Amino acid sequence: MGPEFLQRHALAVADLQNMARRHLPRGIYEYVARGTDDDLALRGNAAAFDELNILPRFVRDVSQVSTACDFFGQASSAPLAVAPTGFASLMWLDGEIASARAAAKAGIPFALSTGSITPMEKVREASDGRLWLQLYVWPQRDMTRELILRAEKAGYEALIVTVDTPAAPFRPYNMRNGFSIPFRLQRRNILDILQHPRWLYNVVFRRWLRTGAMVAENYPAALRVPVGKATVGKFNLPFSDDVSWEDIRDIRRLWKGPLILKGVMHADDAAAAVEAGVDGIILSNHGGRNLDSAIAPIRVLPEIADRVGSRTTILLDSGIMRGADIAKAIALGANGVLAGKATLFGVGAAGEAGAFRAFELLTQELARVMTFSGAADLSQLTPDLLRIPADFARIGGGK
Ligand SMILES: Cc1cc2nc3c(=O)[nH]c(=O)nc-3n(C[C@H](O)[C@H](O)[C@H](O)COP(=O)(O)O)c2cc1C
Repeated sequence: MGPEFLQRHALAVADLQNMARRHLPRGIYEYVARGTDDDLALRGNAAAFDELNILPRFVRDVSQVSTACDFFGQASSAPLAVAPTGFASLMWLDGEIASARAAAKAGIPFALSTGSITPMEKVREASDGRLWLQLYVWPQRDMTRELILRAEKAGYEALIVTVDTPAAPFRPYNMRNGFSIPFRLQRRNILDILQHPRWLYNVVFRRWLRTGAMVAENYPAALRVPVGKATVGKFNLPFSDDVSWEDIRDIRRLWKGPLILKGVMHADDAAAAVEAGVDGIILSNHGGRNLDSAIAPIRVLPEIADRVGSRTTILLDSGIMRGADIAKAIALGANGVLAGKATLFGVGAAGEAGAFRAFELLTQELARVMTFSGAADLSQLTPDLLRIPADFARIGGGK
């Protein structure tokens, strides 16, 4: 599927999602598209954006609409970055490189997950765009420090520390569809895989010929095991349940570039993050994948923007599927957003061209919403353009 096909047939991110659904085995598709438990948080993220209506303004000059913005002192073509997602190479051969290149072409930053199958150095070589690296604080703090130094050496611009996963997430649908870890071939996943020969050939077979089993290459050698073999536990896929603000201050001392804390949801945690010296926070419920009753980040954005918006950069993810969602987040006080599933649907549909199409659609939609809202640039997306339901905390005052 080339760019021309996508121009004609992918007219919304939902179209890319449908294409990805057809290309990927069901188990892999659900790993990307679903949340956890009853998918309450996943649906809640979408519902929260839908509840916000725009009060359009007219008789304004919108002959030149610009979506350009500044992230941590550098220009970006839109207030959009790629969210870090593990195992993007399960969607497409070299999926991480595909989305990093697409992001560079679109002029937006790309965040690589530590759980990436492609090593960070290879992604750096393959892309001339802006790269951020995401990490979890591992129980082995010395390995965490080594990873940070490796990211600095590899030329990564910003570090994202994800704090919203103190334990391995429980995703029952992966067990039901036969794609849980450790992965074992069984009737249902064999049938599922065989029904997707293009994926099997391109993503698994070609990779196997090149490097053998897929491995999370950013992990320290002691923790590197083939992806399917990793047991979700403290040592192979390590999560720390005792991360402290002292850990964050330690990382702050070590990392000289922009430091961003991901997964902040409570205004007190946002304030503590600013006190610990971070440059930015990402309001996120992990795309609804961890805690099913978690509130949608967009609902807490006004309160957090009010509390810390003048002192830090506020980014938001979880549920960005339309340019209108971006406009709403900016109007409520965010400086930008990240897209996780929207990117992976693009990659899963058509690799680099698909990811680029996702960014193009989101940016074009944002520009269209701005045009119909009387906003020629992002600073004109203000809270008064929105009809805000009462349960969205206070109106943002951070801008
Ligand atoms: C398949 C998948 C893998 C993810 N892996 C990671 C990860 O390794 N680290 C992380 O901080 N967040 C991870 N996330 C969460 C994303 O960074 C982001 O918070 C979320 O996808 C945003 O919601 P959205 O998918 O609705 O855009 C992952 C999300 C998905 C869909």
